[in-house]
Amino acid sequence: MQVLTTRDELRALPLCGRRVLVPTMGALHDGHLALMRAGREAAGPDGCVMVSIFVNPIQFDRPGDLAAYPRTLDNDLANCRELGVDVVFAPDVGSMYFPDRSITVTETLLSAGLCGATRPGHFDGVCTVVLKLFLLTSCDAAIFGEKDFQQLAVIRRMVRDLDVPVEIIGHPTIREADGLAMSSRNVRLAPEHRADAPRIHRALVSAAALDTPSAILAAARADIEASPFARIDYLELVDAETLQTAADLTRPNILATAVFYGDVRLIDHVDLPSN
Ligand code: PAJ
Repeated sequence: MQVLTTRDELRALPLCGRRVLVPTMGALHDGHLALMRAGREAAGPDGCVMVSIFVNPIQFDRPGDLAAYPRTLDNDLANCRELGVDVVFAPDVGSMYFPDRSITVTETLLSAGLCGATRPGHFDGVCTVVLKLFLLTSCDAAIFGEKDFQQLAVIRRMVRDLDVPVEIIGHPTIREADGLAMSSRNVRLAPEHRADAPRIHRALVSAAALDTPSAILAAARADIEASPFARIDYLELVDAETLQTAADLTRPNILATAVFYGDVRLIDHVDLPSN
């Protein structure tokens, strides 16, 4: 496995077969590892699995969240090695961004609501770094988790609208045994918050079985707010394709939430097939 830290090293990399990129911010957990296994399969035996590990400062809207983001590079590299990753790209901030950089990729429709509404500039930062990673690695395909479904939708839109020649592959959400979606932020939860957090997924799953948007939203809100710790950032029912507020249940929808436990913000969602 090669570990590269600069764009020059990436450029010097001999072209292998199909290149599949798994972009991450490190602090790798089983959700990330599942994406890497899928990467190995998508690349094939002669292809090349590339993992990027970069805590991207321009997608953080709260400086405290950036400073507290877990960094576990040695452990991450050991995991990548064990999974048969071919190349890890782990640049420092200085080798990714010029101090006077002045170009940003902005998506204006799908990123307006949900996480975009409460995290100004977040998806601009994601689009900008992902496009740079695609160009730097010359990847043929890239794998993203469905857990961050708004991120996945925004990246698919960027690739479509800008004619980026990269195939985008979505991967289902990996959960802990108690239903909590795996996240690098879970390790920052206080023990009593960690014990309470599986209620988020339970609330979404049981509300999703109801038959009107207002009943679904009311039930999910009541279940989450029954917690002494959880504070809802948003809870919304949106159209699965446009991510705009769902008026009825005739089209596939997504019930999505972001919940704060202390200063740790967790997201989760469930899919509602059309009635
Ligand atoms: P990060 O949060 O490290 O996630 C990297 C990838 O892992 C994303 O595609 C995310 O959706 C996926 N992932 C995280 N938790 C998952 C889970 N429980 N199950 C399945 N997939 C999961 O998302 C980012 O980094 C960044 O925004 C990035 C795309 C790297 C750009 O900086």
